[in-house]
Amino acid sequence: MKEKINEVIAQVEAFSSRAASEIEDFRIRMLGKKGVVTMLMEEFREAAPEVKRELGQKLNELKNKALERVNELKAAAGSDAGAVKIGDVGDMTRPGGGTAEPMGSRHPISLVRNQIVDIFDRLGYTVADGPEIEDDHHVFTALNFAPEHPARDMQDTFFIEKNPDVLLRTHTSSIQVRVMESGQPPIRVICPGRVFRNEAISYRAHCIFHQVEGLYIDESVSFADLKQTLLHFAREMFGETTQIRLRPSYFPFTEPSAEMDVSCNLCGGKGCPVCKGTGWLEIMGCGMVDPNVLEACGIDSKRYSGFAFGMGVERIAMLKYGVGDLRLYFENDVRFLHQFDAAI
Ligand code: PHE
Repeated sequence: MKEKINEVIAQVEAFSSRAASEIEDFRIRMLGKKGVVTMLMEEFREAAPEVKRELGQKLNELKNKALERVNELKAAAGSDAGAVKIGDVGDMTRPGGGTAEPMGSRHPISLVRNQIVDIFDRLGYTVADGPEIEDDHHVFTALNFAPEHPARDMQDTFFIEKNPDVLLRTHTSSIQVRVMESGQPPIRVICPGRVFRNEAISYRAHCIFHQVEGLYIDESVSFADLKQTLLHFAREMFGETTQIRLRPSYFPFTEPSAEMDVSCNLCGGKGCPVCKGTGWLEIMGCGMVDPNVLEACGIDSKRYSGFAFGMGVERIAMLKYGVGDLRLYFENDVRFLHQFDAAI
C-alpha cells in the first residue's frame, strides 16, 4: 500500500493543466467519493495496526498535496480567465474609441517654453543646453561680475562647495558663456533651462524657476536690432497690438542694459490690478553684451558686438494664462494641470 500511495503522490506532483475542466476532472478522480484518495482511505481501515501510523501519515500527505495542487492550478487558471487567447481577439476592425486611456496634458511651463523657442526658431536661433550644476567662472566671473562685486548678491546663490566654488546656476547666461567659449560669431542661440535662487517661496517667487535667455553676436549688431527683435517677440507672444518699452537698468554683463515691459494684455494698457494700474508689465532683462564679456570668452570685441536678453518662463505663463500664484506650477495638482488640456 505504501508504494501505491507514493505512486499517487508522484502523479499528483506531475499533474498540470490550465484548463478549468481538466482540473475539475482531476479533483474528482483524486478526491471525489469514488476517487483514488478516498479509496485508499477505505483500504487504510483494513491495514494491520503496526503499519497504521506510518500509512496514516503518508495518506494525509497525499490528501494535502492533492488539495493544494487543485487549488493552485485553479487559481492560476482563474487569473487567465480575462486574458485574450490567441485566435480569440475579436473584431480587429472595430473602432477603439470607447476604451481609450484619458489623455495627459502638457505642463504650462513646457507649453510657454516651447512657444518662446518656436518664435526664436523662426528668427534663425538654435537651442543651446548646459549643466545645472556650474562653477563660478561660467555663472559669474566670465560675465563680468568682479570678485567682491555686490552684483553677486543680486542672485542669491545655492552653493554646493566652496573654494573652488561649485553652485547651482542662477541664470542660463552660463550656457551663453559656454557657447561663446566654444565657437566664433555669428552666434544666434536661445538657452532655455531651470535655474535656482535661494529665495523665500511665495506666490511671486520660488527657489526653482525656468528661464529662456538669448544671445546674438555678429559684426555691427546694434541696440536697434535688439529692440526690433524684442518687439517682434512680444507681438508673437502676446498679440499684434502689444507695445513694448525699455527702461534703463543694470546688469554686469551688458552695457547699456534695460528692462523690457510689455503693455498689459489684460486691460489693454488702461491699468488693472495685475499691472498695478500702470498699464505695463515687466517681462525681461536685456542689453548689449559688455565688451569685457566678449573678451573673457575669446571673442574680438573690436570686430563683433551683440545683444543678450533673458526672461522668466513662469512670469510669461502667468501673464498669458492669468495664473495668480507661481507655486501652482510646482505642485502637480491635476485640477490645475487639466486646465491646459486643450493647449498644445
Ligand atoms: N541673466 C539675467 C537674469 O537672470 C537676465 C539677462 C540676460 C539680462 C541677458 C540681460 C541680458 O536676471
